[in-house]
This record gives sequence, C-alpha cells and structure tokens, in this order.
Amino acid sequence: MLFGYNPFLLFSFLSALLHLCAGHGMLKYPPSRGNSEWLGTCAAGAGCKGPCDSSKANSPVSNAYSASPMVVQRGQTLTVKWDRLNHPGGFVRLAVSKFEDSDSWDSFNNNVIKYTCYETNCGPDDPNNDTFGPLAGPGSQECSTTVTIPDNLPDGLITVQWMWFGGGVYYGQKDTSFGEYYGCSDLKLQGGSPQTSNVQPPVFKGGDVMYPSENVCRYWGSNKVGDCSFGSNSPNPIPGNLLSQSLEPCTHGPPQKGAPANLMSFIAYV
Ligand SMILES: *[C@@H]1O[C@H](CO)[C@@H](O)[C@H](O)[C@H]1NC(C)=O
Repeated sequence: MLFGYNPFLLFSFLSALLHLCAGHGMLKYPPSRGNSEWLGTCAAGAGCKGPCDSSKANSPVSNAYSASPMVVQRGQTLTVKWDRLNHPGGFVRLAVSKFEDSDSWDSFNNNVIKYTCYETNCGPDDPNNDTFGPLAGPGSQECSTTVTIPDNLPDGLITVQWMWFGGGVYYGQKDTSFGEYYGCSDLKLQGGSPQTSNVQPPVFKGGDVMYPSENVCRYWGSNKVGDCSFGSNSPNPIPGNLLSQSLEPCTHGPPQKGAPANLMSFIAYV
C-alpha cells in the first residue's frame, strides 16, 4: 500500500506532487519577458490573464538597461522551445504582433501563425509508468516547434505570444485539466523577405507522444482557446493553502484526441 491512511505519508505524497507542479507552462526560448509576481509563469487560473506574462511596460525591452532583443528577419525560421514541466497534453498556439499592440488580446488572436501539440517531441521520462495514466507521468524534457516569421510586419519590435491550453493531470489527478498559460518574447524584426500585406492563415501541426503519426493532439478539458481562461475571475489565496492560489483544475474528464477548435477548412496542414 503506497499511502493508506497514514497522514504523514499522504502529506509526503502531496508535497512531492506540489513540488512536481511548481511553475508549469512557460515559454523558454526565445526567452519570455518574465514577471516577478508569478516567477515568470502566467496562469489564467492564478489571475494572470495575458496576453503576455508581463505587460509592455514591464517588458525588458522597455528597460533601457536590458540587453538588446534578438534580431529576426521576415520569412526566417525560428525555433520556439518550452519545457514539459511534468505535464502531458494540450496544444501550443503561437501568434505574432507588433510590440506596440502586445497588450491587446485581439492583436494576437488575429495573427495566429501556428497551432501544435504541447508534447511535440517530448514526453514522460518513463513511458511505462502509468501512475497518472498512459504516457502521462513526470518528465521535464524540452519540447519545441518551428515557425516562420510572417512577412506582414514592418521592421521594428515584434512580440511572439506562446500559449498552452488543454493540458492535463492537475496535481496528480488523472482526469483534470489545467487552465491556460501565456508567455511572450520580444524580438527585433529587421529585413528579410519584402513586407507584404498578406496575413497567412495559421497552420496546425499535430502529432505528439500519444498520437505520433496522426494530425491530432491529446488534450484534457477543451480544445478551444478561452474555455479555460476563467474569464475575469481570480483566486482568493488562503495563506498556507497552495491549492487556493489557483482556480484550477478547469474541467474534469478523461483525455481526448483532436485538433484545435475553430480551425478553418482552408488551413494548410503541414
Ligand atoms: C511512477 O511514477 C510515480 C509518480 O511520479 C512514482 O511515484 C513511482 O515511483 C513511479 N514508479 C516507478 C516504478 O518508477
């Protein structure tokens, strides 16, 4: 028997889970703006409502003493990375806006460039450990995908928004889903392909550790952006009660399989 009713063992188990779950869902590369309030992570359930982990005003590029942002070109391929952070499933959405518009959700929603799976090329460390369900165990491997910097933006500061939605296994509970997580990285766009006015529709690239050869992802809860943003609600944390710091889990139910909602039929599948 692993924990039985021994309160000490149950406490140890919960502590281990809490430890496992500290700081989920973060954009790693290109580096996100960061924030001090939530140690760089931006969880809708904790009251961080995006669209970025910090506002424009709190971005390093608004600080004269910060290092200059990374330079990219129109049409360039950029690799975007995040760590799995012990959580399976869901989708990553990537959008690009002008930095000056980056406090606005609309500017990202109207300029989504890609959807892919959270576990693109990463998965649990022990694929045979089913404690939290098939292929759902711990492991913080690096996950990544590539995007093409769109050619509809002029030279200047731009912002790449990363979001994670449809992730699962909240504090070791198999059939629970996380809320949404957001992060942004500011870059300097300079040259490359000539600027055009074309806004390309987003692409979807499915295939993850659960469904490696199908154009789908495994997800928990919802496959639709906004369903697990908790609206304008924020938690009322009780000191000493870690779970009270979040409105999560978002939903209860087993994992599902599919593409992101609202993908239009003309979207190219690559
Ligand atoms: C399986 O994973 C759980 C949760 O992380 C862990 O407690 C357990 O020791 C693992 N089992 C094996 C056989 O490694």
